[in-house]
Amino acid sequence: MPQLAAVDARPGSGAMFDGIARRYDVLNRLMSFGLDRRWRRRAVVACGLVAGGKALDLATGTADVALEILRQQPESHVVGFDPSAQMLAVGERKVAAAGLAGHITLQQGKAETLPFASDSFDAAIIAWGIRNVADRPAALREMARVVRPDGRVVILESTEPRSGLLAPGARFYLHHVVPRVGAWLSREKAYRYLQTSIEAFPSPLDFSRVMADAGLEVLSIRLQTFGVCTIFEARPAPLQPAQGGS
Ligand SMILES: C[S@@+](CC[C@H](N)C(=O)[O-])C[C@H]1O[C@@H](n2cnc3c(N)ncnc32)[C@H](O)[C@@H]1O
Repeated sequence: MPQLAAVDARPGSGAMFDGIARRYDVLNRLMSFGLDRRWRRRAVVACGLVAGGKALDLATGTADVALEILRQQPESHVVGFDPSAQMLAVGERKVAAAGLAGHITLQQGKAETLPFASDSFDAAIIAWGIRNVADRPAALREMARVVRPDGRVVILESTEPRSGLLAPGARFYLHHVVPRVGAWLSREKAYRYLQTSIEAFPSPLDFSRVMADAGLEVLSIRLQTFGVCTIFEARPAPLQPAQGGS
C-alpha cells in the first residue's frame, strides 16, 4: 500500500485514526448502541447500486460500508479509500475474512484529491468522514466528478440533534457521555474531538448548500434517530446549457 508523503496530524486526520484503529469497531458499536449498522445500511440503500455496480467508499476506515455494499449487492465492486494505514489494515483483515478480496480494493489516500477518472463510479459514499476532511468543498467536487451522470453521491454524517422531544437527551449523551466513555475506553482524546467536531459541523440545511455549491444536486436529506445522524442523497448536478448570445 503506498504511503502518504506528509503526515497530517490534525484532529480527525488519518494519523489520529491510526491511534484508535484496533478499538474503533468496538467503540463505534458500543457508543451507538449498535445503531451504526442500521444507519450504514440505509445510506448504502441510498446509493441505488444495481448488480455489477461500481462504488467508491471514501473514508472507508475499517471497511464496514464497503462490506455492507457487498452484502446488499454481492456482484458489485468497491474501492475503499482512506488516509489511515492502520484503519485500512483492520479493514483488509475483515475483507479477507469475508472472502471478498476480489470485490473490495482498499487504497490509501485523501478524499480531496482522487486518482480516479471522471464518471468512473456508479456511486460514491462517505460515512462519518466528511467532517474529518480538511477541504470539504474539494472532496464534494471530487465526488461529483468521479460519479457518472445520474449516479449517486451519499453522505452519512453525525449531526447535532436540534429539534424534537428527545433531542436534549441525545445532545446530553453526545456532549457528556460519548467523550468521557470514549476517552476512558480508548485512552485517546479522539472522542473529545468527536463531540467538538459534531458541534462545529453545519446544520443539515446549511451543509446541503455546501453540497450544491460543489456541483451536487441534493435529492433528499433524511435525519436519523432524533437527528443524531443525517443521510444526504445527491447526484452530480446536470451541466447548465451555455447562455446563448444575440
Ligand atoms: C469515523 S471514521 C469512519 C469510518 C467508516 N466510514 C465507518 O463507516 O465506520 C473516519 C475516517 O475518516 C478518515 N479520514 C480523515 N481524513 C480524511 C480525508 N481527508 N479523506 C478521506 N478520509 C479521511 C479517517 O482516517 C477515518 O478512517
